[in-house]
Amino acid sequence: MSPTPVSPVAPTEAPPVLLTVTDLHVHFPRPRANPFKDAEVVRAVDGVSFEVRRGTTLAVVGESGSGKTTTALAVMRLAPITQGSVQLGTTDLSQLDDRAMREARRRLQIIFQDPYSSLNPRQRVGDAVRAPLDLMKIGTAEERTRRVDELFTAVGLRPEQKNLFPHQFSGGQRQRINIARALATHPELVVCDEPVSALDIAIRAQILNLLVKLQRELGLTYLFISHDMAVVEHICDEIAVMYLGQIVERAPRKAFFARPLHPYSVALMSAVPDVRGGRARAAQRIQLSGDPPSPIAPPPGCRFAGRCPVAEPACAEALPPLVQVEPDHWVRCRRVEQVDGRPVGPLALPTATQALPVAA
Ligand SMILES: Nc1ncnc2c1ncn2[C@@H]1O[C@H](COP(=O)(O)OP(=O)(O)OP(=O)(O)O)[C@@H](O)[C@H]1O
Ligand SMILES: [Mg+2]
Repeated sequence: MSPTPVSPVAPTEAPPVLLTVTDLHVHFPRPRANPFKDAEVVRAVDGVSFEVRRGTTLAVVGESGSGKTTTALAVMRLAPITQGSVQLGTTDLSQLDDRAMREARRRLQIIFQDPYSSLNPRQRVGDAVRAPLDLMKIGTAEERTRRVDELFTAVGLRPEQKNLFPHQFSGGQRQRINIARALATHPELVVCDEPVSALDIAIRAQILNLLVKLQRELGLTYLFISHDMAVVEHICDEIAVMYLGQIVERAPRKAFFARPLHPYSVALMSAVPDVRGGRARAAQRIQLSGDPPSPIAPPPGCRFAGRCPVAEPACAEALPPLVQVEPDHWVRCRRVEQVDGRPVGPLALPTATQALPVAA
């Protein structure tokens, strides 16, 4: 029952890839309103590919409805995969039958946003943390009890607290219990879907720091979903920006926060006064007007073109491919150019002296 050993990695050597998502599609059929018409589908995730290296964090950001949670659920095989594959190490999760998937579950776990609804109010919290071990028949009864105590300590709670019920804990403490439960089976991958969004601002940093500490100690790999750029800048190694079911930009954290290239990424970043540049920037942010198009009938060209302040007519004609513009930096925008061997986006992040075009 000791933690899975983590092989030491030399600082210059990139760790091996743990999670590989390739051309993932999740389409939800809609009830047929008219028997003479084709059935409609919601293209919640529509051709998403990324990799996450062992021991690192990939953050997935984007507006509400962009497909972040559906991507997370599909990785966990909790949403149906219409097309594409999800590979954990050498195991193709998308091909596993139910029995093999139950076996693989111990290797990947998920933490949800709401620490209130994710715990059964009538179950003692120690039993909640122990449940995955009982379900997967991991260890003897005494080993499971010891493991629960160990987990409570690891997440900053006292083992005696395991006999209490969820209502006796604060939101932050409940999220600690959820983290303990997620770690029970020694997972390699932990999917975190907005794990601090429902918490008080004062508590958020504590939980984020706990996640960072646990990652360092246990060699965990995180797929970290968030709509909060300030949180993401704190926690991620790489970032993927989603828009209407697709990735529009993917980059290492430093490169992205120094110079986001896609106009949508620039808009997302300029909306956060605390990220790069301080509050002065907030006065000049790019206003995103309108809503994204419907995921039922996405437009044929760039999906952001209708709201993009620098779109040209050609942008609306054909969907641009996701292109690698510098090492590990990918962007889906036909207006990104190479200037003196470096990629330059059509919109720069606003500075204190620059005014920005505002989408009509
Ligand atoms: N089970 C489902 N059936 C039909 N449509 C769904 C289902 N789940 C999600 N959707 C749709 O898929 C799209 C993506 O939803 P998803 O919840 O993945 O977005 P999100 O990026 O997580 O948003 P949020 O930031 O609000 O959590 C939305 O249009 C949503 O309405
Ligand atoms: Mg979501």
